[in-house]
Amino acid sequence: MKKVKIGVLGAGRGKTMMKYCLHSQNAELVAVCDFYEPFLEDLKKMNEKENEEMAKGITYYTDFEEFIKHDMDAVVLANFANEHAPYAVRCMKEGKHVMSEVLAFQNVKEAVDLIEAVEETGKIYAYAENYCYMPAPREMRRLKLEGKLGKIEYAEGEYLHNCEPIWDRITYGLPEHWRNKMSGLYYCTHSIGPMIHIAGERPVKVSGFEVAYNDRCARMGALGSPIGLAIITLENGAVLKSVHGVGPYTNSVWYSVYGSDGRAESAREATDKGIDTLYLMCDDAPYEGNIKYRPTEKLSAKAASAGHGGSDFYTMYFFCEKILGDEEAEIVDVYEATDMMLAGLFAYRSCLNNNASMEIPNLRLKSERDKWRNDTATWDENFAGDMLQPSYSESNPEVPDEVYEYWRKKWADSYGQDRKYRY
Ligand SMILES: NC(=O)c1ccc[n+]([C@@H]2O[C@H](COP(=O)([O-])OP(=O)(O)OC[C@H]3O[C@@H](n4cnc5c(N)ncnc54)[C@H](O)[C@@H]3O)[C@@H](O)[C@H]2O)c1
Repeated sequence: MKKVKIGVLGAGRGKTMMKYCLHSQNAELVAVCDFYEPFLEDLKKMNEKENEEMAKGITYYTDFEEFIKHDMDAVVLANFANEHAPYAVRCMKEGKHVMSEVLAFQNVKEAVDLIEAVEETGKIYAYAENYCYMPAPREMRRLKLEGKLGKIEYAEGEYLHNCEPIWDRITYGLPEHWRNKMSGLYYCTHSIGPMIHIAGERPVKVSGFEVAYNDRCARMGALGSPIGLAIITLENGAVLKSVHGVGPYTNSVWYSVYGSDGRAESAREATDKGIDTLYLMCDDAPYEGNIKYRPTEKLSAKAASAGHGGSDFYTMYFFCEKILGDEEAEIVDVYEATDMMLAGLFAYRSCLNNNASMEIPNLRLKSERDKWRNDTATWDENFAGDMLQPSYSESNPEVPDEVYEYWRKKWADSYGQDRKYRY
């Protein structure tokens, strides 16, 4: 079987995609890039351990400009979450297919650039919103497509992650890190994404809310609200409630979908500890009644050992299958990714406007794009131009330097290195 030659940018989360390649039948890892050299040293050891033979063929880069010249079919972007779109555009223009980690872009200008690059180059763009492929939301989508749930009328999605215990590992104590600077509504697609993937409808308007800044975020040095909430209306009139954040007391990944003919709900973490369990009520055979089950399908066994409830397998598998010519491969394409993202970005605009309802632009329409192609509004001063937003709607909290010093020391003590931002 032909294998897709993959290069991975980013050696943190990127390890997941590398491991996929090292054990898969449709992908081969040929290049890796990270400008933080100590990570590359760790990677070399990992790759040799996972697949000694394939590891011999991997080239390691610290410079993206050198990496992009490598002979490869596709690039997986696992670099900083707010820098994906410019790299995706660049890679596609260099003739590579792209799979982008979350998030797809950080302002509406980048959304327009990304969509137009996909259309102009004809390259495959897949958005790696892995939560769509967790067992329960994946089964909900299957039931919806089978007609068992009827018309989707309402859904709820939660991605709550108390990141305080791991903040040193994921920010290295750097005040500039995107996880410290992002707004509370930015990291939105783990909660919104699966609902949109299941409903298959475009979001048309949204209202956003921020939970008040809390002591946990102050201890972490995260500037955004601990929990963001978005109430989204879809084109068919369905309403979605999305809740997500890095600063709640505890964790929850949970989805519930109400259709005209049934309701499907994943297990509450507090009761069943599982996104792999579904509670279903519907009228249709063979599911009639009120049942609880662990959904499986033909790829479940292959996905079983992958991270995030197996979902990390599907993003890479479908991306590679699509490149290899399977038109039906279930990727999240650039338009669907845009739907998931814009709902969060406009929810934050709503927070900045006293929770007013915001219309979400339809960037599938070329006629709508001109209005947005210079809209650089974001919380990151490196990308915002003269449209800088605060990270928290009421204005950025003051964080003393000692907070970041604490996390920096903690990371340096555990990793044995003191990391600076750019290399
Ligand atoms: N889908 C999921 O479940 C999931 C889980 C964790 C992280 N992520 C995503 O993965 C991405 C990476 O997150 P992370 O946890 O590894 O943390 P991170 O964002 O700190 O890591 C990014 C890595 O990329 C490297 N990098 C960034 N820009 C680079 C460039 N231009 N050239 C070379 N190297 C560069 C950095 O040195 C760093 O090692 C983010 O987009 C994040 O949202 C997704």
